[in-house]
Amino acid sequence: MQALGIDVGGSGIKAAPVDLGTGKRIVKRKRIPTPQPSTPQAVYAVIDELVAHFEWTGPVGFALPSVVRSGVAYTAANIDDSWIGTDAGADLSARLGLPVTVLNDADAAGIAENVLGAARDLSGVVLLLTLGTGIGSALFTDGVLVPNTELGHLEFKGADAETYAAARVVDSGLPERKWAARLNEYLLHVERVLAPDHFILGGGISKDFDHYSDLFDTRATITPARFRNRAGIIGAALATGGTT
Ligand code: BGC
Repeated sequence: MQALGIDVGGSGIKAAPVDLGTGKRIVKRKRIPTPQPSTPQAVYAVIDELVAHFEWTGPVGFALPSVVRSGVAYTAANIDDSWIGTDAGADLSARLGLPVTVLNDADAAGIAENVLGAARDLSGVVLLLTLGTGIGSALFTDGVLVPNTELGHLEFKGADAETYAAARVVDSGLPERKWAARLNEYLLHVERVLAPDHFILGGGISKDFDHYSDLFDTRATITPARFRNRAGIIGAALATGGTT
């Protein structure tokens, strides 16, 4: 079985048809810059384009940087505020005439890692954190997702944790190892609150894991994600197939 996975980010909307058995993209992914302002109507027009590009007629998984319950976005991070209250599931199913599953982007990444990636053989409490512009979180207990955890917004050092420890602080000039030391502080904080057995670290930065892994001293194990920036697309596709 196959599904089209779509991952909406602040700067790009990425999509690819995915084989649900292997997690492999069947054809090359396509990326279209996120329209500005990134209102639902503007993003829907991009989705039309992506569905037409792949000549897609099957199930669609749609990952958003939002708390999502029953297809409705309740928050909006790095996308236009007008997403809040939008029933993306109903809108897109009606517009495309296809079954559409909507979920949080970090939850999608977590599903990919949990079903086919770095968390596949792990049991207990597993917390995937996606490190990019923000910090996304996906919490699993023995493979079952607790959706919409939003641990990037824990208050830490008097501010939103993601402003202190997301990977974007490296883009703003903080050396990578200094950022990793901050990340370790944040992980220790999360560990005090939740005591996970395992952390999985995702996002583009996970490819450099060996450069700074010596700085981590959590009790929980820490493993880099397998799918990195592809996890959102793969997990969105998997979420359509009743795998969660
Ligand atoms: C958002 C989350 C999202 C994460 C990664 C956070 O700012 O609140 O919903 O998963 O960024 O995109």
